[in-house]
Amino acid sequence: MPVGERLRAIARSLEPFSAFYRSLPPTRPADFLFGNPHEPAPAAYVEALRAAAEPVDPARYAYTMTLAAAASAIATGLRGRIGLAVHPEDVTITNGNFAGLAAVLRTIADPGDSIVYLSPPWFFYEPLILAAGLRPIRVALTLGTFELDVDAIAAAIGPDTCAVILNSPHNPSGRIVDARTLDDLAAALTDASERYGRLVYLISDEAYQRIVFDGRVFASPVTRYPSSFLLYTYAKTLLSPGSRLGYVAMPAAMPERDELREALVLAQLLTGWAFASSILQHAVPHLEGLDPDLASLQARRDHLCDALLRQGYELLVPEGTFYVLVRSPIPDDRAFAQALAADGVWVLPGALFEAPGWFRISLTANEAMVDHAIPRFARAIERAARGGA
Ligand SMILES: Cc1ncc(COP(=O)(O)O)c(C=O)c1O
Repeated sequence: MPVGERLRAIARSLEPFSAFYRSLPPTRPADFLFGNPHEPAPAAYVEALRAAAEPVDPARYAYTMTLAAAASAIATGLRGRIGLAVHPEDVTITNGNFAGLAAVLRTIADPGDSIVYLSPPWFFYEPLILAAGLRPIRVALTLGTFELDVDAIAAAIGPDTCAVILNSPHNPSGRIVDARTLDDLAAALTDASERYGRLVYLISDEAYQRIVFDGRVFASPVTRYPSSFLLYTYAKTLLSPGSRLGYVAMPAAMPERDELREALVLAQLLTGWAFASSILQHAVPHLEGLDPDLASLQARRDHLCDALLRQGYELLVPEGTFYVLVRSPIPDDRAFAQALAADGVWVLPGALFEAPGWFRISLTANEAMVDHAIPRFARAIERAARGGA
């Protein structure tokens, strides 16, 4: 057999995704499927990359692990934006949160250890945990409100648990975990670490850290629990997931951070040079200061959510991220998504991300797509009310 068993098992678990994708019609007038941008990246972003690409010195295209100037800009940014003290040497530049997660898991866990993740999750947590030879433990968020169930998380942690992955603002629900719940979680993780005599880390996936609405202030889980890794990607904020740029930061209060820092760099190398390209790294001091156009995104959220609510859909108005989670008007969310797709509107059925009965809309679609979709969403819920898909 040409392909190893572990990879084949992971491929099988992802097959429903591929099957759904293959079933979609080729034209996509309104594409809300993934977080892929349907508008150009910001001009300032492109300009920063153009400037960084100039070979002003011979080192510009040299092997580059983490550039000191980039790490320093990020540490300053974290202190200013979320009040987190980070030493620049504890920042390592990754090619996005895919790579950050793979490297952190390699750093802290041994084969057979378990990793707790919260469901519904970003769909690649489980494959990444399995690929590292670890055991995923799924803990459900509270049904319907998608809040953390701290008692359930505490109960799921065992002697072999190495870390809990938390994603706030949360893909797919758009919920942000409040500060009190974060304190409860920190207490539960401290408790479990003492009970089992082994540090339980928090892996804080903050891909949407800068996409928060209605003037909210984002409380980072890392400010509440020092044994945390903060994972960030510029993909979402700067509408550029194809560029592959992010970082892992450890707070100044992280225990044994000298040893962890060296191990993390080695884990990045062993993950297949999981550092961002030198050009991107040279651009980081400029990119760090760029903010997303939150006003436009929030206006799009309101436009679409208001229309769907008027049409009779049940949904969560997101507090952050660029996703809207909507209850499928029929129990079979996949059939509902397929019917929408046949009418030119692509959404992601919840069955594919552990949220059966729901579907997810990505607000990275452009205005024309939203306008195209609104009457089609109306038709779809009317069809469902008549007993169709
Ligand atoms: C919660 C979450 N984590 C990680 C990622 C992966 O980020 P990147 O593509 O920058 O590696 C995504 C992308 O959709 C995400 O939504």
